Amino acid sequence: MAASSSLQSIDTLILGAGAAGLFCAGVAGQLGHRVMVLDHAKKPAEKVRISGGGRCNFTNIHTRPDRFLSQNPHFAKSALARYTPFAFMDLLTTHGLTWHEKTLGQLFCDEKSQAIIRVLLKEVEAGQGKVELGVTVLEVVKTAEGFRVETSIGTIRAKHLLVATGGLSIPKMGATGFAYDLARQFDLSIIPPRAGLVPFTFEGQPKEEFAQLAGVSCPIGVHAGAAHFNEAMLFTHRGLSGPAMLQISSYWQEGEAIEVDLFAGEEGAALFKNLRDQYAKKSFGAVFEKYFPSRLAALLGEKGIIPAAAKLGEMSNRQLEDIAHQLSHWQLTPSGTEGWRTAEVTVGGIDTDELSSKTMEAKKVPGLYFIGEAVDVTGWLGGYNFQWAWASGWAAAHALRFQ
Ligand code: FDA
Repeated sequence: MAASSSLQSIDTLILGAGAAGLFCAGVAGQLGHRVMVLDHAKKPAEKVRISGGGRCNFTNIHTRPDRFLSQNPHFAKSALARYTPFAFMDLLTTHGLTWHEKTLGQLFCDEKSQAIIRVLLKEVEAGQGKVELGVTVLEVVKTAEGFRVETSIGTIRAKHLLVATGGLSIPKMGATGFAYDLARQFDLSIIPPRAGLVPFTFEGQPKEEFAQLAGVSCPIGVHAGAAHFNEAMLFTHRGLSGPAMLQISSYWQEGEAIEVDLFAGEEGAALFKNLRDQYAKKSFGAVFEKYFPSRLAALLGEKGIIPAAAKLGEMSNRQLEDIAHQLSHWQLTPSGTEGWRTAEVTVGGIDTDELSSKTMEAKKVPGLYFIGEAVDVTGWLGGYNFQWAWASGWAAAHALRFQ
């Protein structure tokens, strides 16, 4: 698309009207900067709208740096410490919004997610910021005064350029690799992006077996390398999903096995021995079904992993210990993940070594900032990614210089 000939000058140009871009625009505008936000999408913050099943899990009260993945685990500390979940809760309160904690510190809006988008837009308005949607960014050029950005609505000159165009997850919702392309243009390194918080896929026999169990969910423990989560697992037609699998997917490396513990950290052998004392005359299968989904029990019986017909009272300690061991060390090797189509986040992104952890400014390119998911900081499932969007946006907004 050819740029029109109009020319605008602004203090701060933010690319991407998602969570990080809009929030940062509100803060910067209210600090006195003239701010403009551009997005190629026709609507702002589409991911906020669909997040949290439509109720936006906007933060997590247990936010801590160790709940984020990054090549540099220390990078997120400063921003997360300076803008906390409680600060965002205060902001929502001033707009009359209420919320509830669902589980594990995850805060969800009582209203639909659209209420959060309204708050973000009102904050931008309060700082007299402008949001322009449906705009194509054609070229970014560094100038002596700052940046010249050629767009489908004309040339925009800005002292500061903030890149908040997110990661690669869900291209159908407008995700692009713009931030990475721009980083490459300025010779900034990138940690290779990969899909995170994403269901696993399997091939062959496990795929067929899991498809038989599609819709079955149970609490489990799961390990990949040093990472470990105790949450629910869901069988799907393509493989495994549910919070436990989404969480571990961010840590999983292609080709690696994951280990599932069907007892979710409980002592399986001790449980079986107790059950044997209580139900000596019953079959192992009948008792097993009291604790595990019956369709899962049936499959494990068919595979000969559990002796469904055996009388519990006749089973030896050794037998019970062996079965418990198998069920708590179930090794599975996913063939892959559902990829960008369904991934909730992108792991990797702009290398944090290139950025100041206090300001998000590129060390090599004064005036250029990266915030939100574009950066190699990825939160766990449960509101952590929005908290990073708010905190990194806040840090950058407070770092902008008045010239
Ligand atoms: P975000 O992706 O929000 O915004 C980027 C913006 O840039 C978009 O508006 C896009 O259109 C625009 N853009 C991209 N390329 C461009 C280009 N070339 N030119 C111009 N504009 C461009 N997190 C959480 O904490 N709690 C939750 O409940 C959920 N739920 C959830 C559900 C689903 C289905 C998904 C996919 C993701 C979540 N997340 C989440 C993750 C969360 O949505 C995500 O981490 C943040 O939206 C990231 O905010 P950013 O502003 O960095 O990117």
